[in-house]
Amino acid sequence: MTKTGTVNKTEYGFSRISDHDILDFEHTYGADHYQRLGLVVRKTEGVWLYTIDGRKYLDCLAAYSAANQGHHHPAIVKAVVDALQGHYGGVISNVVYTDAFGLFLKKVANLVPQMAPRFGENGNKVLAKNGGVESVETAIKMMRYYGYKAKGIPDGKQEIIVFHNNFHGRMITVVSFSDSKKSREGFGPLTPGFVTVAYGDLEGVKKAITPNTCGILVEPGQGEGGMYTPPKGFLKGLRELADNRDLLLMFDEIQVGLGRTGKMFCFQHENVIPDGIILGKAISGGLVPLSVFVTNTRLMDMAFQAGRDGSTYGGYPLACVAANAAIDVIINEKLPENAARVGAYLKKKIDAIAARSTHVKEVRGRGLFIGIEVLNGEAMQYCRKLLELGILANDSHGHTIRISPPLILDEEGADYIAERLEKVLVD
Ligand SMILES: Cc1ncc(COP(=O)(O)O)c(C=O)c1O
Repeated sequence: MTKTGTVNKTEYGFSRISDHDILDFEHTYGADHYQRLGLVVRKTEGVWLYTIDGRKYLDCLAAYSAANQGHHHPAIVKAVVDALQGHYGGVISNVVYTDAFGLFLKKVANLVPQMAPRFGENGNKVLAKNGGVESVETAIKMMRYYGYKAKGIPDGKQEIIVFHNNFHGRMITVVSFSDSKKSREGFGPLTPGFVTVAYGDLEGVKKAITPNTCGILVEPGQGEGGMYTPPKGFLKGLRELADNRDLLLMFDEIQVGLGRTGKMFCFQHENVIPDGIILGKAISGGLVPLSVFVTNTRLMDMAFQAGRDGSTYGGYPLACVAANAAIDVIINEKLPENAARVGAYLKKKIDAIAARSTHVKEVRGRGLFIGIEVLNGEAMQYCRKLLELGILANDSHGHTIRISPPLILDEEGADYIAERLEKVLVD
């Protein structure tokens, strides 16, 4: 920043303010709510992050799946720039219709397979919000209302089954059923009505069902919980239980959906159709926030009429324009297929490294959703070393190195990652 407060642009980003000053601003003026690595990123492109002096880092985090299409994907950037320059990007009061929103709703409703087919082939409806957690709450409202209206559970008594190690965001209702004491402590009164069962434990779910149970909320792959894939048959088993006991089964695919695990939707690995799905992050291509809850038209119409939900920015034109382009990129560039192919290539290399390493407990995952659990339980130690070698990665649940780069990664990028993992994990 100059003395007059003007920001001088640099080839590598927005300003020439020193990294030292940026760190000082963040620590002085920002809530200390994230454990950070000491890297100031000035510019992002594709799979790369750049510093002020042009050092580059391969992004193995992709903003927890928000940057699946790669940073600043040209087609998504163009859509956003065109919208701003064409004066059709700004928020408009939700009492009128916009073409961007209409087109977006149709695209998402048709992208997702028929949800909850047992309620009929009615098509899907979409309810849009901003951050992912907001759409998780929409799904919770849907399950509770179904319990009340369709099953006759007294209002206030509805119960939802959730799972240990879950992560669905940070707002009060969702942290109320988090396992993490740190994310709950002192924030009470917490929201009641959740029953927690071990991830993968079908018998536990069966036992937890009561006459007041209205639904099951599950991540078909746990990203924050340690990069876990559920045991084979788990999602199918949940589906059967939900069908037999008339429960709504909701999948939170905010992190594992939209190609991350090598299929468009993670649930397609088990060929199980949920009653509703929550998507976010990559749905708008990493440029503006947007999330959705999608369910069978019959269910959506049952729970949400005018006045029962809403969001000023949820589904505003700029987000929808970005999302329409972002979804096209996922489909046209076959990102799920690329994630499957390059992910399998990378995982094979990581498995070989793990076999030579004395530090690795387990390698797990599929597509470009790969976790490397370390024996000492201190994944961040390894992530700091990876940073020195030109890779941004962080831990998942403390014990696991998360490898989840943008889905445009190619074999060369996978080699770059593997070479550096070798240096860090093999003595
Ligand atoms: C599975 C899952 N659900 C919900 C969320 C919350 O999304 P947001 O941070 O956009 O609110 C996340 C974020 O990481 C997530 O991984």
